[in-house]
Amino acid sequence: MRIAILGGTGNIGKGLALRWGSKHEIIIGSRMRSKAERAAEEYREVLSAVASSRGQVRGAANREAAMAAEIVVIAVPYSAMRELADAIRPVLEDQIVISLVVPMERSNSYLRYRAPPDGSAAMELKRLLPDTVRVVAAFHNLPGEKLRRIDMQLDCDVVVCGDGDAMRVVGALIEEIDDLRVLDGGGLEDSAMVESLTPFLINIAKRNNLSELGIKFV
Ligand SMILES: NC(=O)c1ccc[n+]([C@@H]2O[C@H](COP(=O)([O-])OP(=O)(O)OC[C@H]3O[C@@H](n4cnc5c(N)ncnc54)[C@H](OP(=O)(O)O)[C@@H]3O)[C@@H](O)[C@H]2O)c1
Repeated sequence: MRIAILGGTGNIGKGLALRWGSKHEIIIGSRMRSKAERAAEEYREVLSAVASSRGQVRGAANREAAMAAEIVVIAVPYSAMRELADAIRPVLEDQIVISLVVPMERSNSYLRYRAPPDGSAAMELKRLLPDTVRVVAAFHNLPGEKLRRIDMQLDCDVVVCGDGDAMRVVGALIEEIDDLRVLDGGGLEDSAMVESLTPFLINIAKRNNLSELGIKFV
């Protein structure tokens, strides 16, 4: 599939690009095309070293990347989400949009979930984008650092929220990544529960001196 990762120059975007890069056509999106192209070159080199294939990874400006893709991953901080949605709205048609975005704020040295008025970042994105776009929420509780180390086994669950066919398409893409299990978390209106787990996981890691945490339901 042709997958645009907007904010693909960042932490979690890099992980997804590397995990999908040998099987799919990946377009790294950035506010700056040159930055996206540099990141794409770096990811191709990583892929050629560990996966013996440079993969089909290229860079583009966010809007151009979204226009060219079937799947559009939104991997930017919440503070940047609205501006990005405004930029890509005119070029979106019937793409599946995957939201990884977690709205959170710092309180003393810890993080708190900050629910937007729409209920969650994914619900807000759905309101901001054309009705023809199908928004799915996923990957919020996956540790980006471990995702980026492509030789590392993840052994995590990924809770996905959304509807219908789009859920199935995204679920299949997630299960292509070794050792990830997809769990149906309900409709997009349930995504706040999954988003809110992220600051909780980060705080637990910090309080207990652990490395980045993911989730696994047993
Ligand atoms: N890191 C994780 O482990 C993880 C796990 C699950 C979910 N998430 C969520 O995924 C999203 C991305 O996380 P991340 O850690 O990958 O973020 P990040 O590395 O801080 O940022 C990702 C990219 O977003 C773009 N960006 C940053 N600030 C921006 C701004 N003010 N305006 C427009 N674009 C901006 C930058 O791309 P350009 O400069 O190239 O445009 C940056 O490379 C967040 O919402 C986060 O909560 C992260």
